[in-house]
Amino acid sequence: MLQLFLLIVIAKSQINLVWQIYNPDSGLTSQDQSITFGQYNKEIRVWPSDGSSFKSEFQLSGNLPMSPQFPIARINSKYVSFYVGITENSGSTLSLSKTTNSQYQFSQNAITFVPSSKQCVLTPSADFNTIPIGGKRQLTLDFINCIPITGLQIKVLYETISKTIIQKNRERFAFIEVSSLNAAVDTSISISFQVNSTYYLISTITLKVVANSQSLPVSSIVNKNSGTCTGAQAVFTFNCGKKSMLYYSYSYQNQAIDITKIKEQLLLNRLGKQYTNVNTYEGYGQSLMADNSNKDITLTGLRSNTVYTILAICEDELYQQSQSAISFNRCDSQQTIKKIQIQSYQQFQTINLRDIACDLMLQLSLKQNQVSSADGIFCNQIAQSKINGNKQYYIPQVSQTQLSTYTFFVYPDYATTYDYTVNSVSISQYEIQKQTIEKIIPKFPTVNQEFFIADENFLNFTITLKTDGFISIGLDLLQTSLPDQYQFSNGLNYLNNPFIKFYRKFLIANEQYWFQFKLSDKNDYQLIYQLASNPSDGAQYSPLQVRKFTLVQMQEIYNIIICLSFIMFFNL
Ligand SMILES: *[C@@H]1O[C@H](CO)[C@@H](O)[C@H](O)[C@H]1NC(C)=O
Ligand SMILES: *[C@@H]1O[C@H](CO)[C@@H](O)[C@H](O)[C@H]1NC(C)=O
Repeated sequence: MLQLFLLIVIAKSQINLVWQIYNPDSGLTSQDQSITFGQYNKEIRVWPSDGSSFKSEFQLSGNLPMSPQFPIARINSKYVSFYVGITENSGSTLSLSKTTNSQYQFSQNAITFVPSSKQCVLTPSADFNTIPIGGKRQLTLDFINCIPITGLQIKVLYETISKTIIQKNRERFAFIEVSSLNAAVDTSISISFQVNSTYYLISTITLKVVANSQSLPVSSIVNKNSGTCTGAQAVFTFNCGKKSMLYYSYSYQNQAIDITKIKEQLLLNRLGKQYTNVNTYEGYGQSLMADNSNKDITLTGLRSNTVYTILAICEDELYQQSQSAISFNRCDSQQTIKKIQIQSYQQFQTINLRDIACDLMLQLSLKQNQVSSADGIFCNQIAQSKINGNKQYYIPQVSQTQLSTYTFFVYPDYATTYDYTVNSVSISQYEIQKQTIEKIIPKFPTVNQEFFIADENFLNFTITLKTDGFISIGLDLLQTSLPDQYQFSNGLNYLNNPFIKFYRKFLIANEQYWFQFKLSDKNDYQLIYQLASNPSDGAQYSPLQVRKFTLVQMQEIYNIIICLSFIMFFNL
């Protein structure tokens, strides 16, 4: 049966690649084949013609200037996107080529553009079209529609002042700080620009000079949601008292995202980059507020059973700030864990369990941390690409007599409010005799008993829980700081170095489990563990439990042997 399946895969012909022009501004397809000199103002997207996601990686290159120069089609993405531009000498027909790859081919790899000498007009913007007397204002130039093929030299002209800034090749933004110099209150200053490329024109901006003493903004937040807790979305009303720029963030675990971080985050977002410290259940934003007006803002993707803090900072045109904060609760979404048990005569190895975790993840459209085997084997990138690719599985041995049971768990996505149902799953690559699916209500696990046994080579940690739950446990050398939640759940210490050994496992209540750690040297060690209702993001976690111990070499007593002893002390 497996052979037949593989034959079908091999016989399958190559998938054609198609391309389309996109309007970078609207993100919609465009028929406009005109192309402007000196700018990357055409976005091209290349797709598999059957609408599927890429199943293997390849790289594109072309004869015209492209940004990025060598775009990469990534596994699981639906298209690869890049910008094209022309120069006086480049011609205007783009011929694309790709690195060798057996799954994809171009049926048509050339696209002819119509050159246009149209200038790109940039309009500078500022948070406020005013400037405080004796103060400063930052202007922003956004090049999204005409990213330069080479850098630009931009001269800022204002009265007798001339300042030059360099916009680097392919940079989306240029920031210019202007000062009001000696201009009087209520007058206007006009700032104009000169660019060293005939393909660009930057319009003049006028800023009105305002007095530098004004009333302070007054930041306020009102919870518009009924009941004692909210769903995955919640509406709040913000007010700044006076014309201001509102910056807001919502976060949990008392880790407020302050204004510097919010600004940094907003900029990185516009640059298309992700700020790594903010995870998916948190958010931030910005909104221009009129004089004493309310604005309703909907916060989304809130995590189940979590206390949130919203921080609102109003910054007026004189950069005066007012800050307010409120807390609210996101209700418990009462989602369940799905326990999937499959029985097979095949003797699955870790690699097979990982394949199945990947298969379930793709089949049920889950996030990577939402499905694992009972021993905490999750799908990883490499395994996933194999599932997407040739489906050549490692074939497990078959026992004629013994039917083995393998357990997988599907964990909730706490940013949603629904609890989806799984009635059956298909595990086509292996021979499954039977499958059962059971719903489990996640409970916060508590310890019944734990203890250590050790000799000169091994530490044996034994634990029994009162309720079912997950344990993550790692052995590390003693460190001065503990890892954060993200580091720990990835088996890393606070220095981002992997633990000596790290396990994650589902423990059934009242059964004794033991974890064995090999000790290589006399040293100071720490054993860190954490209990969780389930391993997905947003589940209930215990604090990190730390057990420190020292492996010491005692004096030789009576010339016999070297004894080892453990000095162990418990702390949280
Ligand atoms: C404009 O100036 C930039 C930065 O100095 C330079 O890289 C670029 O080649 C110049 N462009 C032209 C058309 O001279
Ligand atoms: C570890 O402890 C458990 C429980 O006491 C025991 O069953 C197991 O054999 C021990 N393993 C080692 C390697 O000592």
